[in-house]
Amino acid sequence: MTRILVLGGTAFLGREVARQAVTAGYDVTCLARGSAPPPEGVMFVAGDRDEDDGLHAVAGHRWDAVVDVTLHPVHVHRAVRDLETDHWVFVSTANVYEPGAGLDESAPLLEPFTGERMSAMEEYGPAKVACEEAYRQSGRTATIARAGLIGGPGDVSGRSGYWPWRFAHPVHPGHPMHPMHHHEYGEAGQRAEGALPEVVVPDDPDYPTALIDVRDLAGWLVRAATEKLDGAYNVTGPTVPLGQALAAAAEAAGSRARPRPIPPARLAELGVSGWMGPASLPLWIDDPALRGFGTLDTRRAVGSGLVTRPLVETFRDVLPFEEARQDPRRCGLDDADEARVLREA
Ligand SMILES: NC(=O)c1ccc[n+]([C@@H]2O[C@H](COP(=O)([O-])OP(=O)(O)OC[C@H]3O[C@@H](n4cnc5c(N)ncnc54)[C@H](OP(=O)(O)O)[C@@H]3O)[C@@H](O)[C@H]2O)c1
Repeated sequence: MTRILVLGGTAFLGREVARQAVTAGYDVTCLARGSAPPPEGVMFVAGDRDEDDGLHAVAGHRWDAVVDVTLHPVHVHRAVRDLETDHWVFVSTANVYEPGAGLDESAPLLEPFTGERMSAMEEYGPAKVACEEAYRQSGRTATIARAGLIGGPGDVSGRSGYWPWRFAHPVHPGHPMHPMHHHEYGEAGQRAEGALPEVVVPDDPDYPTALIDVRDLAGWLVRAATEKLDGAYNVTGPTVPLGQALAAAAEAAGSRARPRPIPPARLAELGVSGWMGPASLPLWIDDPALRGFGTLDTRRAVGSGLVTRPLVETFRDVLPFEEARQDPRRCGLDDADEARVLREA
């Protein structure tokens, strides 16, 4: 039986990889510290990779493939040193590339990080480059999966959930503490006292977005593990203009709210940024250097079996997760900011 070790497996992507691998009938072990439970049906082994002997409990076994999501080169050095496997699957990122548009896997990479553990976001891309190099130089085959933005159920960042959530819960500009709900505007789409509700969106409809559903990425990673796909692969969703992506979010939410496009410069004046963080509009960023992030050339992954579902499906499925979340979203405008921007823009 095919034996797969997932280093991680208790969080968003690694967990979905483990879940799908179990469902496909593979023998799956997950090693993590145990911050959250792994999926049912896996063998869970507790281990802390920050410790030099953190992989002790899974060393001495032979694995058909090891899947790793780490950010820290020292974790990779220890995996290469301690584990016996035929094949690695390393989840990397599009942040390894020097900024550009339409990049394929041969595009130039950033200089690798030389430290053991990354600690600041500027080190993220370089740290992943160093991790990639360590796996590629291990003498075994390695799938290097360079993922773009990952979304769908379980996306705690809120970057994929914000837009369908906001379209499902537009605010009334005069009453920020009273978000509107579907029942407040009927089939005709008219609110008793006025026009359709509005949602703040960047006036940048052609901005190229790309989002991959965690379930599609995980499915491809399991395939990469069992087929031992060797080399680098850009693995993200197709490029979709922002205007179309937001229309898909509104459709997924069954919303009649209308987008209210606001020029990026005005958003900045109102304290609204892009991508992530407090008062930010996700899937988008007003930075020419990052405009190519959603334009990766994914033909190699598609040619090796990557199938991505329509964006509207991801938005539809992430909405209940977003509506049920207890922890604060790490992006988007809260109701007070949304109302303020609608009033002041
Ligand atoms: N989100 C995005 O849009 C995006 C975009 C591009 C690429 N990526 C990449 O996609 C991957 C996401 O993976 P994910 O969602 O599964 O991971 P994650 O949220 O980064 O979680 C890390 C996993 O590793 C485990 N872990 C962390 N520190 C550990 C330690 N010291 N010892 C042992 N285990 C440890 C965690 O479990 P415990 O806490 O239980 O130990 C968890 O299972 C990452 O590689 C990320 O860089 C993400």
